Amino acid sequence: MNIDFSGKTAIVTGAASGIGYAVAKQLAESGATVVVADLDQDKADAAAKEISESALGTKVDVANEESVQEMIRFAKEKTGRLDYLVNNAGIGGEQASTGEYPTDGWRQVIDINLNGVFYGLRYAIPEMKAAGGGAIVNIASILGSVGIAGSSAYVAAKHGVVGLTKAAAIEHAGDNIRVNSIGPGFIRTPLVDKSLDDETQDALAGMHAMKRLGKPEEVASLVAYLLSDQASFVTGSYHLVDGGYTAQ
Ligand code: NAI
Repeated sequence: MNIDFSGKTAIVTGAASGIGYAVAKQLAESGATVVVADLDQDKADAAAKEISESALGTKVDVANEESVQEMIRFAKEKTGRLDYLVNNAGIGGEQASTGEYPTDGWRQVIDINLNGVFYGLRYAIPEMKAAGGGAIVNIASILGSVGIAGSSAYVAAKHGVVGLTKAAAIEHAGDNIRVNSIGPGFIRTPLVDKSLDDETQDALAGMHAMKRLGKPEEVASLVAYLLSDQASFVTGSYHLVDGGYTAQ
């Protein structure tokens, strides 16, 4: 498949690590100027430097509306345009049953994983609309369509992202802006390594029909396709990349 993002600008949030890093790398390899946005300026700069000579690091806290506005301004000021946004930044959150879930922990997950996606859409869409179009991918999860015990905030946020994606896609189809979400299965990234021991990771691997965890690059390929003109009739939909997890 020939994907050419030459002359285009893409922002990827949470791009200093894991899936976001792999997405940013793939977009840069296909010619895009990538804004590598993450919580820590030094980490964002270091990742940008590794990814491509043209990539730009910037600090963002997606849970902070003004910080997201600043990230969009940065992309416009430095590159003169904004063609693509990947709302990827996210956290796993605390593990507890809903009846015991810490309220602060709930708010933090919703602020980052759901409100953060809204802020991205809220401030990227007007720029894309004014420029004649664009494409956005929101990283949800398999937990955007099925549940799991112990992560109600995460499951609720990811279901919210899938719904928000549909609403925004319908509203902005006429502006030539496509908005899609994706549902990765469990992917071997620092998020998974930090929060789950080896035994739990093995058990999770066994829950996928392919009996393994996914790789960040396997998610990045789907994101690149959805942003590209190859997906010109694809909008408002939720695309699984889950090794058969939810097919069972
Ligand atoms: P990760 O922990 O490796 O990377 C996440 C990045 O987001 C980090 O660099 C972190 O600094 C950044 N980040 C966290 N909070 C932020 C904030 N408030 N503002 C800006 N950046 C922030 O995680 P991973 O696994 O790469 O996850 C990326 C996305 O993929 C998340 O939305 C996650 O929910 C989703 N996902 C991950 C799966 C997995 O199994 N790893 C499965 C399905 C979805």
